[in-house]
Amino acid sequence: MIDQQLADELKKRATEGDKAVLRSPELRALFDAIKTVPSYQRAAYGQAVSALRHALTELLDQTQNDSQALPPIDLTAPFDSNTPDDQRPQLLPSEQGSIHPLMPELNKVLDIFYRMGFEAIESRAIDDDYHMFSSLNFPEDHPARDDYDTFITLQTDKQGQPLIAPAHTSTMQNRVLKRLKAKLDNGQPIAAIIPGRVFRNEDLDARHEHTFYQLEGIYVDQGIDAGHLIATLKTFLQEYYGKALEVKTNPFYFPFTEPSFEFMLSCPFCDKQGCQVCSYSGWIELLGCGMIHPNVLQAAGIDTNKYTGFAWGGGLDRLVMMSYGIEDVRHFESAKLDFLRQFA
Ligand code: DAH
Repeated sequence: MIDQQLADELKKRATEGDKAVLRSPELRALFDAIKTVPSYQRAAYGQAVSALRHALTELLDQTQNDSQALPPIDLTAPFDSNTPDDQRPQLLPSEQGSIHPLMPELNKVLDIFYRMGFEAIESRAIDDDYHMFSSLNFPEDHPARDDYDTFITLQTDKQGQPLIAPAHTSTMQNRVLKRLKAKLDNGQPIAAIIPGRVFRNEDLDARHEHTFYQLEGIYVDQGIDAGHLIATLKTFLQEYYGKALEVKTNPFYFPFTEPSFEFMLSCPFCDKQGCQVCSYSGWIELLGCGMIHPNVLQAAGIDTNKYTGFAWGGGLDRLVMMSYGIEDVRHFESAKLDFLRQFA
């Protein structure tokens, strides 16, 4: 007859879900032995071996069903999901948390632009070469691409290009122009503000962070010129700082605008007297802007004989740092509670 210890051993393996037990040398040896068993015992022995095999199959099915019945594992849980409830890390009660300091400021900015007739469209955390460069009139291999050194993925898109962590919110221009261009046909302007997180491969210091926030603005209609751009930004900034300000522009270069400007505003903290925030120059260099390059409008299918537009892009972190006298941009992404709690 079958050795009981061996049968128990095989059953134990089946209970543990070891499917190889059905093809194990031990089980095969039991089958092979049928030939050698004396003929008067052969039928009973054969039945016993078959019954054992059947039992093993049933046990294996059972373990399979048991594992399917287990609750799903949350791979994102910050603890081993087998940890009993009472030993899991305690989450902080939500009353002890607070809104990140960048967010109330973003809401304040958006609120002003809503009142000026803009709509907000959020940017994205991953993009492609077309939106990052080609649609923005960066020629292939143009050195201007080097100014936007960011992170790329090993995974590629359908064209075999790596995916890109956007280095600026301008990556959204083509999408937003396409999405809103029907407005032009209805006699309305395209007026969008695009907040988003951006990423750069930077040497980190108090003024440079690999992750920060930008605000992009786009406005397109008939008869739009640089005067509208300057007036829009000046109106926004005076509303934001709650006081009259002077603004000026310096010529600059961006592939996606022509002409391009660097936008300066008189220091709202010292009224041009000179202070730490404006490095005693009386002026703050705030953002990049310009008239949207015809190639960028055309890439979105907008008729450049009829329409012109302006765009700008600048950092949100910078605005907040100036407002609160924050000396190091890295605090924002640091998750340091002693920093964050000051804004609670
Ligand atoms: N994307 C530029 C940057 O991050 C800023 C910028 C400049 C945005 C001009 C614009 C623009 O929309 O028109 O350096």
